[in-house]
Amino acid sequence: SPIRLRDYRPPAWSVEAIELEIDLGIDSTEVSSRLTLRSDASQPTPLRLDGEGLELLAIALDGRKLEAQDYHYGQSVLEIHGARDGSVLETRVRVQPAANTTLEGLYLSGSREHGFLLTQCEAEGFRHISFFPDRPDVLARYTVTLRADRERFPVLLAGGNPAGSGDLPDGRHWARFVDPHPKPSYLFALVAGRLQNIQRNYLTADGRQVQLVIWSEANVIDSCHYALDALERSMRWDERSYGRSFDLDVFHVVATHDFNMGAMENKGLNIFNAKYLLADPDTSTDDEYRAVEAVVAHEYFHNWTGNRVTCRDWFQLSLKEGLTVFREQQFSADMNSAPLKRIEDVALLRRTQFPEDAGPLAHPVRPAEYREINNFYTATVYEKGSELVRMVAGRLGQEGFRRGMDLYFQRHDGHAATIEDFLAALGDANHIDLTAYLAWYSQAGTPHLHAKGEYDATRQEYTLTLSQLTRPTPGDAEKKPLPIPVKLSLFNRAGQMLPLQLNGEAQGDSVEKVIVLGRPTQRFVFKQVPSAPVPSLLRGFSAPVVLEYDYSPDELALLLAHDVDGFNRWEAGQQLAMLAFDTLRDGDDSTACKAWCNALAALFTHDAMDDALLADLLTPPGEIEFADRQSEVDPARIHAQRETMQLRLAERIGIDALLARYRALAAHVGEPQLDAMSQAGRRLKRRVLELLALVDAEQAYVLAARQYDMASGMTDRLAALSLLVRRCAPQAASALAHFRERYAGNPLALDKWFNVQAQVPGEPALAVVKNLESDPAFTLKNPNRARSLLGAFASTNPSGFHRADGAAYPFVAERLVQLDALNPQIAARLATAFNGWQRLEPQRRSAARQALEALVQREGLSPNLSEIVGNVLQH
Ligand code: ARG
Ligand code: ZN
Repeated sequence: SPIRLRDYRPPAWSVEAIELEIDLGIDSTEVSSRLTLRSDASQPTPLRLDGEGLELLAIALDGRKLEAQDYHYGQSVLEIHGARDGSVLETRVRVQPAANTTLEGLYLSGSREHGFLLTQCEAEGFRHISFFPDRPDVLARYTVTLRADRERFPVLLAGGNPAGSGDLPDGRHWARFVDPHPKPSYLFALVAGRLQNIQRNYLTADGRQVQLVIWSEANVIDSCHYALDALERSMRWDERSYGRSFDLDVFHVVATHDFNMGAMENKGLNIFNAKYLLADPDTSTDDEYRAVEAVVAHEYFHNWTGNRVTCRDWFQLSLKEGLTVFREQQFSADMNSAPLKRIEDVALLRRTQFPEDAGPLAHPVRPAEYREINNFYTATVYEKGSELVRMVAGRLGQEGFRRGMDLYFQRHDGHAATIEDFLAALGDANHIDLTAYLAWYSQAGTPHLHAKGEYDATRQEYTLTLSQLTRPTPGDAEKKPLPIPVKLSLFNRAGQMLPLQLNGEAQGDSVEKVIVLGRPTQRFVFKQVPSAPVPSLLRGFSAPVVLEYDYSPDELALLLAHDVDGFNRWEAGQQLAMLAFDTLRDGDDSTACKAWCNALAALFTHDAMDDALLADLLTPPGEIEFADRQSEVDPARIHAQRETMQLRLAERIGIDALLARYRALAAHVGEPQLDAMSQAGRRLKRRVLELLALVDAEQAYVLAARQYDMASGMTDRLAALSLLVRRCAPQAASALAHFRERYAGNPLALDKWFNVQAQVPGEPALAVVKNLESDPAFTLKNPNRARSLLGAFASTNPSGFHRADGAAYPFVAERLVQLDALNPQIAARLATAFNGWQRLEPQRRSAARQALEALVQREGLSPNLSEIVGNVLQH
């Protein structure tokens, strides 16, 4: 039965201090724990501790060995009678790291001979290591002593400040760490093995000398420098933007190739999926460099939003994740281009969160119930959660938000908080009541914002009528109206912004305003409007909604040409592309398609705009976004239609112009530079070559093959490879063979080799994927590898996964079962690829249903996978 938010009770027992002594071994590790317990209950309540799969070796309470009748360990809970306030419980357990394939708790990364041991505790991994009240509202002081063979485990790390180390008999050694900051168990971490490091000293704004150390296996330590720079930038940024400094003497970061998620913010010992820590020009694309910078920042920012102020319970997960994603987005916008960052974030939201919010897996940013918390690390909790913080921050303004955050830290530092606490602090610091925003946190579904404009020429008035509607989501039919901030400007037909004078407000000269729709429908009257305006609505994507406004192609073309809000300029292009898509006819082009092509062709030839923005403008919405607006989805048709649109665009721009631009962009040779201009150039070059391939395939393939051969960095190399492979160009095979061999020893590069091939559109994809499974480098045991083939295929290649005969569904279902036996978290995540099956056209829909119904009946599925499959089927 599910766990419910409304059933929350404060813990009956808390833990003041925990002392861990851990004797590490690959096959067998023994964990001794000493808990100092606290209870303020007047009546003695039995002590219940979480513990999963622990082999209990010894147990004593207040120095007295417990007899069998004094305790009971069964069903994941250790129950003990006779404990009182101040009691000390000692347990000793054995766990088996090498046998742990779930990558949760204590496990082995890499091989038995060369690999290292590490932990992942969020959300509930600590109970796989030791007995403890494994919930985020129990904060304890940790003292951790690690012991191991010195030759096999020369490096011993745990979170906190170092507090001694030394030799032991029999070639063993020890190291101790004390964390002065009380923390919940999900932030515990240790690492042990043969690791190299790079380091740097850092002086915090409040005067603390901190040693920053990045650890990895020896062969990739040279790829850690970019992350170390990014870490330093993040630390400075948090000091400047939020007045937050680091609070330990040492900050460790460790890279592993075996990790379920992106990275983990363990106190003082962040652990990263190598994909988000290692960066070098030969392996990493520009996008990956930016992802490393963003994830390093994200995990670092958690030290305040997550660690110093943590979550009361897992329903509040977005309290730390939404807020930290928001901070990370602010940081990335500051380090790079703000409009491009906004475009990227909104595109991600639409590709991942909107489909989640529109289907059977829909849940509020703060879910009301769950069965398996690991299934709730979702785009809704992270990405929509960030949008909610952004709305509130926008409401308060930069200074107001900072004041609110200061009060939030002041009130809740060292404690576990709720989303109500967060909104209350932000509101109280600004004397504003923000409770209306709580509804955004507890209601699933993406609101549709309907906007309608009427111009009265005689009165010179423009009336904007806004209304909102959120469709029902599973288990929640009645939706409340939400406060929706709409940032807007009005343009005249010459492309100039008009001063805005809202009825009843004093005259001003501002050309941009935020109006807040707080009811189902509301009218806003603008005075002294000299001519019928074109509204630029929801600027900067001021609320996570679907805007419905009946723009004509001309009006969108006007915004595309003139809007000074970089995001809305791009957005006008996206909306125009949507119109073009909807009205596309074979042969005979629609007005919208012509308008889209003309507007972009004009920008392509005349405008001196940033290369990266141009590249994004030249890219229509993705297949998933088109599918999201249809009720009988045929992914093959969507793919074909999107191709046709792009063909029209390429024809309109013309072979000569494309070729000339490609040549100009390709003229920059030499070592790849990471500055924004160089990255932008590569981004546009890729797009131009893709467009060229639609109108002159032969020439484009020759250029791509040459680009592949000459590339000095991964961005250009992968772009060329991907184009050749996706279009099944004759040059693809030799480039693939070359790549396979060149990167045979580089797992992150090899992942891209699998990924690119899993993206082949349409019918051929399934055979390609099946064939790649027999490559000796393929394994289901490594999450990155499994995702690079199966995840890429099922989640990012709609025309390949949803083939008309439905043959990919039972294939992926079978892999889910195999994966589930190894790693339930990864299986459950992959299963979300089936989300949206109910809206497929009938033939595919019935094939998908059949595969899912067979899957849900399989015996021994993990709670993780059965929850997702059950929900997807709406059982
Ligand atoms: N807190 C980590 C992050 O920053 C994610 C950890 C998720 N772990 C999990 N088992 N679901 O985003
Ligand atoms: Zn996070």
